[in-house]
Amino acid sequence: MEPTLEVVRAPAEMRARSIALHREGRRIALVPTMGYLHEGHLSLLDEARRRADVVALSIFVNPTQFGPTEDLARYPRDLDGDLEKARTRGCDLAFVPEAAAIYPPGFQTYVEVRELQRGLCGEHRPGHFVGVATVVLKLFNIVKPDVALFGEKDFQQLQVIRRMVRDLDLDVEIVGCPIVREPDGLAKSSRNSYLSPDERSRALGLFTALAIARAAFEKGERSTEALVSLARAPLDAAARQGRLTLEYLELRDAETLAPASGTLVRPAVLAVCARVGATRLIDNVVLAP
Ligand code: PAF
Repeated sequence: MEPTLEVVRAPAEMRARSIALHREGRRIALVPTMGYLHEGHLSLLDEARRRADVVALSIFVNPTQFGPTEDLARYPRDLDGDLEKARTRGCDLAFVPEAAAIYPPGFQTYVEVRELQRGLCGEHRPGHFVGVATVVLKLFNIVKPDVALFGEKDFQQLQVIRRMVRDLDLDVEIVGCPIVREPDGLAKSSRNSYLSPDERSRALGLFTALAIARAAFEKGERSTEALVSLARAPLDAAARQGRLTLEYLELRDAETLAPASGTLVRPAVLAVCARVGATRLIDNVVLAP
């Protein structure tokens, strides 16, 4: 039988649907997205299927996580394509709200995860993680998932959400899933669709730099300074040639996101962000001693 996908647009309807499912004793998994689904999102749906009876996906391009000069207006959208991909991947429910239903007139309550939002993307995108935490909390309240799945590409986002869940006593399990990459290593991202063929080849510089540091780590290098400079060298060279503009390259504790220094003894994340043309790309690798 062809898989079917139920599309729900109104938050009240979604909430009622979730309450009914819970009454039937069904476990709900939520994959929150901004749409323009790629294999990374679809792998989250697969993992959701393994962890719950009902797989829900939300598609909402959240305006509060975009800065005034960012790409909200041109963020790629393909609702019909997304619903078809989700349906064929076995997703049961898609929650696709209008912005006015999530942020009705008079809306003025925001969630701030104070320390974890500092530095990395938070430094370059002021207010971004307030927008993310706020919408994710709202999605949790509306969809009422037992488990929610997020990609590790947005590593800081994942830690912000984990902290919010702990701090606000939310009854939802957070699962981080590995980055899905193109065959050459480029991390899958909806924003890759902005890249011209030349920019696409320059974008690979992020993964190449991380792979150099990871290879050294695997051979036993534990000096944080050495690992960062190994990754920085090709990025600086690419920047000198005008191939990309480095926003940050940092090694941080994988849980607290505090800067890692000296000898690596705890899992750390080497996180990079660069602009290739007008496109801002992020990537990371976790180095776990
Ligand atoms: O990672 C994303 O796509 C978004 O930041 C999220 C978690 C769906 C919140 O809008």
